[in-house]
Amino acid sequence: MKTTVHDCTLIDLPKISDRQGAITPIYGGVHLPFSIQRIYYLYDVPGGESRGGHAHRQLQQLIVSVMGAFDVVLDDGFERRRIHLDRAYYGLYIPHMIWRELENFSSGGICLVLASMLYDEGDYIRDYEAFYREKTG
Ligand code: TYD
Repeated sequence: MKTTVHDCTLIDLPKISDRQGAITPIYGGVHLPFSIQRIYYLYDVPGGESRGGHAHRQLQQLIVSVMGAFDVVLDDGFERRRIHLDRAYYGLYIPHMIWRELENFSSGGICLVLASMLYDEGDYIRDYEAFYREKTG
């Protein structure tokens, strides 16, 4: 299936709030269309900094700004979309074969990533021209 930036959807996650604070639980296969094999988080990112700049051949992800804010720029080779993430109860679902860049990190921001696969460098496409060729070829 050829994925597009319109397959990248904002998922409303549960929020359980009371006077002591809030909890957002995420269940693999329930709130997400994949089972979770790996979790990682980005932190200590200097304010204004960017990350990402790659696509994945198979990996699906859910990206959550659990603290602070950043923008995700999505690109399917034809169209671009910019999504601002600044809430711990919104997850951005990104299917395979979408180029993404994370930009404008607020200082102190924490980006939580839930991933459908273990880390595999062979799954990355880190060169935009190579991505464009694979996507449009
Ligand atoms: P990378 O995914 O390129 O980070 P970003 O896209 O946010 O800039 O990963 C940066 C480095 O961390 C890279 O050398 C691989 C390593 N890494 C792991 O070893 N395991 C992981 O699960 C992840 C996400 C990265």
